[in-house]
Amino acid sequence: MSTTTIEKQVTGTSTDFLPLQGTDYVEFYVGNAKQAAHFYKTAFGFQSLAYAGPETGVKDRVSYVIRQNKLTFMLTTPLRTDNPIADHIYKHGDGVKVLALKVEDATDAWQQTTSRGGKSYMEPSTLKDENGEVVISGIHTYGETVHLFIERKNYNGVFMPGFKKWESNYNPAGTGLLYVDHCVGNVGWNQMNPWVKFYEEVMGFRNILSFDDNDISTEYSALMSKVMSNGNGYVKFPINEPAEGKKKSQVEEYLDFYNGEGVQHVAIATADIIETVTELQKRGIDFLKIPASYYADVLGRVGKIDEDLAPLQELGILIDKDDEGYLLQIFSKPLEDRPTLFFEIIQRKGAKSFGKGNFKALFEALEREQDARGNL
Ligand code: FE2
Repeated sequence: MSTTTIEKQVTGTSTDFLPLQGTDYVEFYVGNAKQAAHFYKTAFGFQSLAYAGPETGVKDRVSYVIRQNKLTFMLTTPLRTDNPIADHIYKHGDGVKVLALKVEDATDAWQQTTSRGGKSYMEPSTLKDENGEVVISGIHTYGETVHLFIERKNYNGVFMPGFKKWESNYNPAGTGLLYVDHCVGNVGWNQMNPWVKFYEEVMGFRNILSFDDNDISTEYSALMSKVMSNGNGYVKFPINEPAEGKKKSQVEEYLDFYNGEGVQHVAIATADIIETVTELQKRGIDFLKIPASYYADVLGRVGKIDEDLAPLQELGILIDKDDEGYLLQIFSKPLEDRPTLFFEIIQRKGAKSFGKGNFKALFEALEREQDARGNL
């Protein structure tokens, strides 16, 4: 196996030209934001937070903001056809448009990144209301995806100017989802390294792990991946590209159906994956099925773990370890009818890696789904 951990000096905050405080929110462009918000509240246990639309002076779109612990999603839909959001949905289906990053200074973040070759999406812009001000700027990344830089240190309202508090009498219980652990992008053939370079040069990230097609291949299909992390490790973006195999790679299937590059999965942290996944399954979320044979030898591979194996096997939760500990993870089926975006639920117990020991079982499970869709 040729996995390489790249040892580089950790960038100290004093030299980190783009200090990030974490993921601020993830915005999805969807065909029907009202129904999508209901789905995420019902199935995943988010709470209503904020709303923007004609009633708040926004004429061309409606956005619902929902939150669970430190995980914030925005669901946005266009109100008319002649709108770039409508074009985005026509082309890609429902998907992630914005990975918004929390910063101390959004003007500086824009200057630092655009001066290093980042393509501007939004010049620094200050939004004000009676609760203070939020400064937003942004740059383009892979496909039609963008990074917004959000500076909210001088704001104490519910979300940001333009939004009002969304009061709802429907408040389903949470499912223990905590925050974004990492967000994975799928890019085209031979595009992984250019995007790695983008995150290194434009955003000051470093490549902390690499997987080649010897690591990530099954009998039929393959992919390559590099994990990019910002200086303090709060923001991690693995980048995948397809690799040659006997049949079509899962990344190619994504690129076909998303009609270009985009976010493949959002990994969400939990402190109790058995409880979280039990609840999500009860609420109708489908996960990839893992064969019993995986569990026959998993403890031999990872060693002793705190959890009983039986509930992990029953739920289909995967286990992997690295030098620092172990992790538990599971992958949902796609969240929309196109085989594009899915979620990972992850509980880290020391491990900082991404489940390399599970790749084979995972990709074989993915291929069974791909085959059932006739796309393998
Ligand atoms: Fe992941």
